[in-house]
Amino acid sequence: MRSFTDRVSEIDISGIRKMFEAAGTDSINLGLGEPDFPTPGHICDAAVDAIRIGHTKYTPGAGIPELRNALSEKFLRDNNISVSPDEVIVTSGASEALHIAMQALVEPGDDVLVPDPGFVSYSALSHIAGGRVIGVPLTGLGLVLDPDVVAEHITPNMKVLVVNSPSNPCGSVQSRKEIQALSELAEDYDFTIISDEVYEFFIYAGEHASPAEFTDNVVTVNAASKTYSMTGWRLGYLAARMEYIEQFHKVHQYVQACANSVAQAAVLAAITGSQDCVEDMRKTFEARRNLLIKGLLGMGVECPTPAGAFYVFPRVGDGDRVASELASRGVITVPGSAFGEYAREHIRISYATSESDIIRALGRMRDVIL
Ligand SMILES: Cc1ncc(COP(=O)(O)O)c(C=O)c1O
Repeated sequence: MRSFTDRVSEIDISGIRKMFEAAGTDSINLGLGEPDFPTPGHICDAAVDAIRIGHTKYTPGAGIPELRNALSEKFLRDNNISVSPDEVIVTSGASEALHIAMQALVEPGDDVLVPDPGFVSYSALSHIAGGRVIGVPLTGLGLVLDPDVVAEHITPNMKVLVVNSPSNPCGSVQSRKEIQALSELAEDYDFTIISDEVYEFFIYAGEHASPAEFTDNVVTVNAASKTYSMTGWRLGYLAARMEYIEQFHKVHQYVQACANSVAQAAVLAAITGSQDCVEDMRKTFEARRNLLIKGLLGMGVECPTPAGAFYVFPRVGDGDRVASELASRGVITVPGSAFGEYAREHIRISYATSESDIIRALGRMRDVIL
């Protein structure tokens, strides 16, 4: 029998995928992790133009200079972070940015602290890098990373803390004060924060804060995927100080060479163009969130109102059982167990779908949840 590396064969296939496989054809899909809107027209036009004028070749490894300049300006405009264009690498989605950072920072045997519940890739990518994953339970009504709880989990071998605000799967948003306290821990214990900010613009209460405002021990990861409804374009980016970039560049060069040239032109139009499309999506998500929460609370479900992203994360008892019963009635959700050890009593419901689907799904949920 062929043998494969432990670090790959030990990883489980995503629990999210398992639910899709179980879905019937007339199912209402509330399992999705991507906006359901089309990519805005002006962004598509820029891509078509790029193809027509022949921007179809390799680009500079770190990305086209125009896009890196625009991203440098974006970080100042939106995040109050000062990064030069040289401190930006354009990647194939946030996924590649996360992979690059883990590969360059985590040595076999190093500890990586990830939020639990947390996005599935954090533990898988840490594992592929040979790291030991330590889940830090999210706490409080809002399910956030409490800096004191993080401090309790710090080990001598710890290299990385992953922060994800707004959060997938909880929809929680860390306060500026918490982000500052987490940044101070990174300075005091000399570890790196990987800050995944892909949902930064989908916030309905509170504000977005980046650790890079407070520390240089950080890799800021972001993407056009969620912000501009561009998941299939595979375009992300990261920013970090030069000592990080020099190492990250090597991984990026050998796994990817460069990000997709046409997608880079499209994202240049997205970042430099009107941001009204983002605000329109945010408002639509907010209305859907309110509809879903009202329906769930009306059924007596324990469900804090999430401040961000496009997920709600109610506590339903046995999340695996509830998710599979919902699936058998044609409503796809994701069991909390897909996101970590501390999430088994939850399910993730995405509202990146129409209001009519949400209303239909609530009707079907009543029978299972009540
Ligand atoms: C928190 C988080 N980070 C990163 C990603 C991956 O983003 P991309 O599609 O840009 O690779 C996702 C996708 O669901 C996500 O939810």
